[in-house]
Amino acid sequence: MVNVGVFGYGTVGSGVVEVISKNAEVIRKNVGDSVKVKAILDLRDFPGDPYESLIVHDVENIVGDPEISVICETMGGVGAALKFTEMALKAGKSVCTSNKELVALHGPRLLELAKENKCNYRFEASVGGGIPIIRPLMNALTADKLVKVTGIVNGTTNYMLTKMTANGADFGDVLKEAQDLGYAELHPEADVEGFDAARKLAILSSLIYGKTVNFEDIPTEGITRISAGDIAYAKALKYKVKLLAKYEDGESGAYAMVAPFFVGEDNPLYNVDDVFNAIAVRGNMLGDAMFYGKGAGKLPTASAVVGDVVECAKNIGVNVPVNWADETVKLSGFEGSKKSFFVRVAAAESAKAKASFDGLTEVKAQSADEYAFITKKMSEKDFAEKTSSFGAEKVLNYIRIED
Ligand code: HSE
Repeated sequence: MVNVGVFGYGTVGSGVVEVISKNAEVIRKNVGDSVKVKAILDLRDFPGDPYESLIVHDVENIVGDPEISVICETMGGVGAALKFTEMALKAGKSVCTSNKELVALHGPRLLELAKENKCNYRFEASVGGGIPIIRPLMNALTADKLVKVTGIVNGTTNYMLTKMTANGADFGDVLKEAQDLGYAELHPEADVEGFDAARKLAILSSLIYGKTVNFEDIPTEGITRISAGDIAYAKALKYKVKLLAKYEDGESGAYAMVAPFFVGEDNPLYNVDDVFNAIAVRGNMLGDAMFYGKGAGKLPTASAVVGDVVECAKNIGVNVPVNWADETVKLSGFEGSKKSFFVRVAAAESAKAKASFDGLTEVKAQSADEYAFITKKMSEKDFAEKTSSFGAEKVLNYIRIED
C-alpha cells in the first residue's frame, strides 16, 4: 500500500482525492500496489464531506507519518506551501504539485532537496493543467535537442480572445463576461498581463535549457492592449490573435517571450480556442509534435497531479534525476530574433512609415484615420528602434506575426 498525504483540500486537492478514489483500480495496476489517501491537511473542517475523517490541521500529522510516502501539494502560494514542501522532502517524502508559482521560483532547489533525500519533486500539473508536457520533456523527448516550443498556456486569455473574435467585442466587455462566468479572476492581472504564461514558459524553458530561466527575465506582453479594432484586422487578414508563450533557439541564440501574435489558418494553434491549451514542440530529430487539451479545471489538473503520484509511487526511495540545475541563465537571443510585425499608425504617419519600414506590405485600413501595414522580417531591436522614432502615441498598435 502506498499512502498519500494531501496539502490543501481546495479545488485541485479535492480533485486529487476524487481521482485516487474513483480510479483506484487503474492506479493500482499502473503502480503495482494500491494507492490510498491517508490524510488531508487543511485549516478548515469539512463536516459531512466523505473524507471528513482524513482532515488534519497540523502538518506534522503528514510529514511525521512514516507510513506516508507521497504528498500532493495543492495549496498554492509560495509561503506555507514552500515550507511544507521542504519539510516533506527533508522527511524523504516525494511531493507532486500543481503550484506553478512555487515551481517557477524554487523548482531547482526543491529538486536538489529531493535528490539529497532520495525522493522526488514533480510538477506536471504546473503547466497546461491536464496536458502531459512536463513528463514528455523530462522523459520521452530527451533524445532530441528542442529548438522551438510555442504554447497557448493560459486558458483565461485564450477564452477571452476567442470571445473577442466571435463577438467583435472589446477587451473590457469580454473580461467582465469571463469574470461573471468564473473563467477570469476578480484580480485578473496575472492572466491578462501574461505573467501566468511567463511562469509556465519559465518552467518549460528551464527544463529544455537545463538551467533556471527566471520568469522576470522573460519579455512579457499581455492582451490588455488588444482591441476590437485589432481583431477586425486579424479577421480581414485571416489570422486569429493568440497569446503565445515562445521558446526558440534560433540564429540569434535562445530566447523566451510571451506576447499576443497573429496566427495563420495553417498553424495548428489557430484552432485552439476557448479555455483549451496546446503546446507545440520542435525537436531537431523529432520534427514537430503538439500536445493539446484542457489547461485548467479540477479533474484535468488533478489527473496530472495523480499521474505524478503514480510515478513517485513506482520510485519510492529512489531519486529519478531531472535536468534542471540550480543555476540561472539569461537567454540573450530576444533582441536579435526576427519576426514580421503588423502595425497600425496614424494616417498622417504613412509617408514616414513607408520610409522607415523598407519593403512593408500595406493592409487595407479599417478606419480613415489610420495606416496599417506588415513589415518584412526584422529583429526585435530594429523594430523597437524604428517604432520609438514615431513617438508612442502615433503607433496605435503592433502585433507580431507567428511563422
Ligand atoms: N489562470 C490559469 C489559466 C489557470 O487561465 O490558464 C491554470 O493555470
